[in-house]
Amino acid sequence: MSHCPPSQQAAMLAHAINAMHRAYAPYSKFLVGACVLGEDGQLYSGCNVENASYPVGVCAETTALGLMITQGIQRYTAAVVVNATDKVCAPCGACRQRLREFANGDVTIYLATEKNGIEKSYTIDELLPDSFGPDNLV
Ligand code: THU
Repeated sequence: MSHCPPSQQAAMLAHAINAMHRAYAPYSKFLVGACVLGEDGQLYSGCNVENASYPVGVCAETTALGLMITQGIQRYTAAVVVNATDKVCAPCGACRQRLREFANGDVTIYLATEKNGIEKSYTIDELLPDSFGPDNLV
């Protein structure tokens, strides 16, 4: 597992919480924030953005990665996902695949709640074992 210093984890969590408070989740009321640490050392965060046409909504992880890509950075070295309940949530299947696209398998994804902070962590390989990725296409 590639480790991220506690001060960096705290910074990512703070950014993820800020993003979480901007979530547009009027349907599920499940607020999520995500933050990825780009290989440039910058933090990119996002929130879930739901839609009246329910399946069109996007997850916080997806908006955070989209922001990183838009800024010209294509790799990240750690991520935090936070939600507003008392129980951490792990990335959905689709987001696991998106998270896998832009990081090495040993990169850590930290799971947190606003109330209790970071409580769990998984590597990308743990979240998505034997995954399909860019290497399969070359
Ligand atoms: N959601 C995320 O943004 N990230 C996750 O890791 C799990 C689920 C969002 C999608 C939807 O807006 C709401 O949480 C309820 O599923």
